[in-house]
Amino acid sequence: MPVLVSPVVPDGRLSARPQPTLRVDELVMRPWLLSDVDAVVAAYDDAEIQRWHVRTMNRDEALAWLASWPDRWRSETGAGWAVTQDGVLVGRVGLRSIGLHEGTAEIAYWTIPAARGRNIATRATRAVSTWMFHHGGFHRIELRHSTANTHSCRVAEKAGFGYEATIRQGVLHLDGWHDMHLHARLASDRALPSLDRS
Ligand SMILES: CC(C)(COP(=O)(O)OP(=O)(O)OC[C@H]1O[C@@H](n2cnc3c(N)ncnc32)[C@H](O)[C@@H]1OP(=O)(O)O)[C@@H](O)C(=O)NCCC(=O)NCCS
Repeated sequence: MPVLVSPVVPDGRLSARPQPTLRVDELVMRPWLLSDVDAVVAAYDDAEIQRWHVRTMNRDEALAWLASWPDRWRSETGAGWAVTQDGVLVGRVGLRSIGLHEGTAEIAYWTIPAARGRNIATRATRAVSTWMFHHGGFHRIELRHSTANTHSCRVAEKAGFGYEATIRQGVLHLDGWHDMHLHARLASDRALPSLDRS
């Protein structure tokens, strides 16, 4: 069937270039390395990460997960960044559900317990989404979190992802169905105020 509108992001716009390394303040967001395996396993030992991402991660699973990211970038289906400070893993930001035709994606994140409360998830989410708008040519990035995860709701708001809707019983967690907030940031949204990084 003929399509009447052109894709917002043409095929190959992401994959034609290497996945970028992004820097904001003291944070470096870089593509995952297989050598991150121990740090990823340690991160998923945290009960909060298990709870909200609804999974654990053993060493083999972590290696497979890390190895999957280059293919996801090449096939323009996803992108994952390790968030590091002084070479140490402090968090992650990832994109999934990439839709080139409408220029859309969904963003997700976690930070390790010792790094929380310093706007790391917020700054990393801002940096990745801003890059996707300015360099990837994307139009809209969505963010979903359980309505019970008030910390994640704060990340969404501070990163410029305004609340749009509540999705009833959207994701099955260990304790049952959770309603989910849908937030989104558009390329056309206004510039964001600067953030404290202490
Ligand atoms: C939610 C999460 C990503 C926030 O990361 P972060 O780097 O601490 O983000 P921020 O510093 O911007 O803090 C966000 C909110 O977390 C809460 N917070 C602050 N200090 C905290 C601490 N030491 N420990 C836990 N939460 C804290 C506050 O509510 C804060 O909002 P505020 O700045 O308005 O006070 C992180 O707590 C985490 O990884 N949690 C477990 C996994 C998870 O929830 N992932 C998201 C799934 S949608």
